[in-house]
Amino acid sequence: MKNILITGGAGFIGSHVVRLFLETYKDTRIINLDALTYAGNLENLRDIEDHPNYTFVHQDITDLNSLRKIFKEYEISHVVHLAAESHVDRSIEEPLAFVETNVIGTVNLLQATKEYWGDNFEDKLFYHVSTDEVYGSLNETGFFYEDTAYDPRSPYSASKASSDHFVRAYYHTYGLPIVISNCSNNYGPNHFPEKLIPLMINNILHKKPLPVYGEGLNVRDWLFVKDHARAISTIFSKGKLGETYNIGGHNEWTNIDLVKLLCRLVDQKMGNPGGQSEELITFVKDRAGHDLRYAIDASKLKDELGWVPSLQFEEGLSQTIDWFLSNKEWLEHVTSGEYQKYYAKMYNKS
Ligand code: NAD
Ligand code: DAU
Repeated sequence: MKNILITGGAGFIGSHVVRLFLETYKDTRIINLDALTYAGNLENLRDIEDHPNYTFVHQDITDLNSLRKIFKEYEISHVVHLAAESHVDRSIEEPLAFVETNVIGTVNLLQATKEYWGDNFEDKLFYHVSTDEVYGSLNETGFFYEDTAYDPRSPYSASKASSDHFVRAYYHTYGLPIVISNCSNNYGPNHFPEKLIPLMINNILHKKPLPVYGEGLNVRDWLFVKDHARAISTIFSKGKLGETYNIGGHNEWTNIDLVKLLCRLVDQKMGNPGGQSEELITFVKDRAGHDLRYAIDASKLKDELGWVPSLQFEEGLSQTIDWFLSNKEWLEHVTSGEYQKYYAKMYNKS
């Protein structure tokens, strides 16, 4: 029996991973460990919370002693580590929180894993979920490959890069069976509206200004979150120990083109006059140190493990908008209270 510890399972990507793993790995127990920060939300998991193979543990990965107890109590054999502070803009405001969770928290998890497994690594795996941002920023051409040199530029990406280095250090030094994946920008249901796509959808629905940083010419490579979860499951079951796999959608968009597409799709679905939402676009002060372009080459994952994205972007965006339109209560819950303060602090600066 596998006992799989998934960290950050109440967050955006983690909740999709928890659900997919429960569907895919029938004879396993899934232990979802999450501190429930502002980004963690058990509403994301309402449909599976009574599943007999599912357990939620409210815990912070910065607490090593508690992790040690959890490994013993649940006899953890596999770890899929997603818990992190994940928003670049917040990392610019509060870098230390990113060091605490992404660096110290990850090392705590590695240490608790190593102590509990001892030298017995048979049928064990520590899977670390990381980001393409560790590779830095591209100009107009080229891609990130698995052997691209690390060049993180934001406190977020520096903390994720550091965590990746520690995971590899535990592999080389102690033989811990690890695998790492680095993924491009995700979007989809349950996406917290501090990130570009859900923030824009929420603002369009409320007829609020759509804040595009700088000139909107930065490029991101977008992947539907369920395709990322499938990639994680593929690597979890078939990935080679010690390896890194890049995950991406081969789907590059400038921010401004993407925001215009969102405006068109929402206007169509709401029956608004054409061009109504585009009028809300407002160019605002650029993000400090804003990476120009990310683009992933995911051919290793395709050639070696057979994973490819399943959805065209317009179809994924359409499904995403439909989800937000039919989950207005979810959106209201996550955008009340603290979110309002966050929004005022970040967007009413100048
Ligand atoms: P998220 O911010 O939506 O969720 C993070 C989750 O981690 C939340 O449930 C939160 O409560 C939990 N968490 C935070 N600090 C914790 C702590 N100290 N202890 C325990 N739990 C804690 O993030 P996401 O977008 O779902 O990203 C998940 C992972 O995937 C992260 O590691 C991120 O770096 C990586 N990633 C994200 C993207 C993306 O586009 N969102 C792309 C590539 C990689
Ligand atoms: O590439 C993977 C990364 O993608 C993940 O590791 C991160 O966790 C995730 O947050 C995401 O980082 P980005 O910084 O690329 O995502 P974000 O949605 O914050 O911004 C996407 C682009 O949109 C970026 O160029 C900044 C811009 N932007 C963002 C916001 C929130 C705006 O123009 N206006 C905004 O209000």
